[in-house]
Amino acid sequence: GGQLTIAGLHGMHARGEKIAMLTCYDASFAALLDSCGVDILFVGDSLGNVLQAHATTLPVTIMDMASHTASVARGNRAAFVLADMPFGSYATPLDAYRNAVTLMQAGAQMVKLEGGAWLAATVDFLVTRGIPVCGHIGLTPQAVHQLGGFKVQGRTADAATRLHQDAAALQDAGVGLMVVEAVPATLGAEIAASLAVPTIGIGAGPACSGQVLVLHDMLGISAGRRKKFVKDFMEGSASVAGAVRAYVDAVKRGTFPAQEHCY
Ligand code: KIV
Ligand code: NA
Repeated sequence: GGQLTIAGLHGMHARGEKIAMLTCYDASFAALLDSCGVDILFVGDSLGNVLQAHATTLPVTIMDMASHTASVARGNRAAFVLADMPFGSYATPLDAYRNAVTLMQAGAQMVKLEGGAWLAATVDFLVTRGIPVCGHIGLTPQAVHQLGGFKVQGRTADAATRLHQDAAALQDAGVGLMVVEAVPATLGAEIAASLAVPTIGIGAGPACSGQVLVLHDMLGISAGRRKKFVKDFMEGSASVAGAVRAYVDAVKRGTFPAQEHCY
């Protein structure tokens, strides 16, 4: 068949088939990841960290995202292409629409926004106008200065309740997919069970419908301390393609994330 669609992703979720997602920022890696069976090529604004050496994702622009999305789309064949809306690009529904159009024209099949219930009207505005949206709750790195650091979220009962409310509000507004980042594995499992749409976890435990990692993290080439939820798949692999296949295999089998990668 052709390119994976949202219906295809929802079908995988319905069949209990895990979804393997990796970040991807260029055409060469897009071709490699696609050929290794990665389901979703995600043009994350983490490119601000791993490509541009910024300490946060805040400096990333819509033109950066459009350029990398276009490169990924050209290198890809069958994977689903998801692109991040960068910091400051979705403060209002109309801003979000105009910037999402730029990413869709670059080749994205869906855009991702970071935040909770406050984004419901924006999600509805986009979805109504034919732009599929992925939510992103838990640790939302664009809010790092509000959160006071890159910290695990949903640790208290109040915070967990708020995350459940955010997840429900975003689903009601029409998200087709939900990224859940850096929450206790028990909360990740609860959120995954409470939603009809597929959940993609990063530091959210093994119960999510799929997993995502930053490409450079899973290849062991990211600077700085390794985050708890990261596994270096180059260890024990003879090639980059081998590492990517090992990641896809581990996600599909449910052997990644293991206990040691969970909060
Ligand atoms: O930009 C990014 O890499 C992300 C993570 C969820 C993988 O948003
Ligand atoms: Na991101």
